Amino acid sequence: MAKDFDTLEDSNRSGNPSIHDVSDPRRRVVLQGGLAAAIAGAFGPLLASCAGMVGRSGPLVGFKGIRVGTGDALVVPEGYVAEALAAWGEPVGIAGAMPAWQPDASNTADEQALQMGMHHDGIHFYPLEGSSTRGLLVMNHEYVDDGLLHPDGLKTWTPEKVRKSQAAHGVAVIEIALTGGRWQMVRPSRYARRFTANTPFAIGGPAAGHALMKTAADPSGRTVLGTFNNCASGMTPWGTYLSGEENFAFYFAAGDKPDAHQQRWGLRKSASFRWPEHDERFDAVKHPNEPNRFGWVVEIDPMDPTSVPVKRTALGRAAHEGAWIATTKDGRAVAYSGEDARFEYIYKFVSRDRIAPGGAKANRELLDHGTLYVARFDADGSGRWLPLVHGQGPLTTAGGFADQGEVVIKARQASDALGGTKMDRPEWLAIDQKAGEVYCTLTNNSSRGQPNQPAVDAVNPRANNAMGGVIRWKEDGDFDGTTFRWSHLVLAGDPANERAEAKGNVKGDIFACPDGLVLDTRGVLWIQTDAHATQMYKGELKNIGNNQMLACDRTTGEVRRFLTGPTNCEVTGATLTPDGTTMFINIQHPGEAPGDRSDPANPGRFSRWPDMAPGGRPRSATVVIRRRDGGVIGS
Ligand code: FEO
Ligand code: CA
Ligand code: CA
Repeated sequence: MAKDFDTLEDSNRSGNPSIHDVSDPRRRVVLQGGLAAAIAGAFGPLLASCAGMVGRSGPLVGFKGIRVGTGDALVVPEGYVAEALAAWGEPVGIAGAMPAWQPDASNTADEQALQMGMHHDGIHFYPLEGSSTRGLLVMNHEYVDDGLLHPDGLKTWTPEKVRKSQAAHGVAVIEIALTGGRWQMVRPSRYARRFTANTPFAIGGPAAGHALMKTAADPSGRTVLGTFNNCASGMTPWGTYLSGEENFAFYFAAGDKPDAHQQRWGLRKSASFRWPEHDERFDAVKHPNEPNRFGWVVEIDPMDPTSVPVKRTALGRAAHEGAWIATTKDGRAVAYSGEDARFEYIYKFVSRDRIAPGGAKANRELLDHGTLYVARFDADGSGRWLPLVHGQGPLTTAGGFADQGEVVIKARQASDALGGTKMDRPEWLAIDQKAGEVYCTLTNNSSRGQPNQPAVDAVNPRANNAMGGVIRWKEDGDFDGTTFRWSHLVLAGDPANERAEAKGNVKGDIFACPDGLVLDTRGVLWIQTDAHATQMYKGELKNIGNNQMLACDRTTGEVRRFLTGPTNCEVTGATLTPDGTTMFINIQHPGEAPGDRSDPANPGRFSRWPDMAPGGRPRSATVVIRRRDGGVIGS
């Protein structure tokens, strides 16, 4: 989500020190050379550390890189083919309930709830019985463009339109198979499901039943209707799907006087999505606890179509991009997550218990018990995980936290009190389980170093950070370690830019605003970009073209462009079949309008991808990528 709505991403007014504020002369010395040191160090010492990480002979990345994208088309390298699948509005395949998509957007709210949602995002392939030709795709539908979703857009605003908008959000589970040389949806399928903004979710962990989670409609504080603004995806070793509820604040109206808690979570007078006008639940003046029930990581078992999804509150509340699992040597789960908002934090959760054999059913409560930490990145390249544990340090009743439930519900305030490092919008994370390393995209932060805003620091070294980058860290000891060493993998940018902070240090093909990040089983780090329509094709991004996907060989540091998307789209999510011969990615919001809402009188103004029908609507869709020779993607 590269949204124009992002004024909320600046709600951290805490006084916790940016590294520059620390009056330690040694740190100041390091910081004076901060940017130069970051650039020089980005590949040097780390190359040695990761050489040999991927056991192989010959080049890791074997395709011929492509040029920057300029037109309304999706482009892949020579020898590859790409095809759209499961676009917005396709019926997911629930038996007896498969309403066809209407190109004039005249499907009802009830029909939309049985179809693919809008704005495809995180995605994961779940093979059926280990197959590389049949499986499930589980994916997020992050948000909607109400200009495209309804025949006349926002000309009128009705309860039916609110219900349709809610039905186009959430998560979809579909079954697909490779038949006759093409991947197609299997319909009907016993696995097909939609989770929308009105699907019941259970609450697990310390916030379950908490006073701050209780509402008039749910006096137990244990059942929430819906999930929305689901951004990135992660798969657990026990076979479930994790989805992050990201910019939930955009959906609530907090009136003229949001309280301090609401302000810290970016709630504003009115909602960007106009749900409160016809659904009182989203009126945070009348229902002040309803926003506390969003901003969680949700867990879904796609293999059991009767399973109840759960919000895992022990992982902390945040504008969660997503969550990704590493495993300690003794078999415990470590969930890494970040919060994509300006000057917010990176977290990890270490489970109390070990992952049990037996899949999802044997690990129903694994993510409900454990320890949550926030990251502090120090200027000397070390870092520390600070525990968000009630009763420790400032997180006491006297400090404003009644119990662990309040600590996780107010994870931002708790992290402010502990002194977590304010980051440049952490998006996806990727874990190298063997090497004990974690990677994280920091997409951009134009407010960094601006007047009255946090200064640059060692890990966020560029003022007016329009370009973003990828950081990496290695835990000291195992993944449950409380200290680590960090560095920059790459600072995105274009060497043709005049401003030093916008040049970057990319070795290979240039890019900006990294967001999606997926490490495949061969060791290729796939980087996807999400520059907003208002930033693209001009200024410091003028040479960078359409949003794209690149392959990074971490042993050489080279980044090579693999795919460019259609006009004004975001490229997001990547998942491969077990044999590596098919990759699925998502194209989100092709033709995104500068104000995030298309003109229904001219819906194809910027893009008509993938249907390319005259006067037609652009549609978010999954893209199936294969090699003509059937080989492994990227090799
Ligand atoms: Fe939904 Fe942070 O992108
Ligand atoms: Ca983004
Ligand atoms: Ca994203």
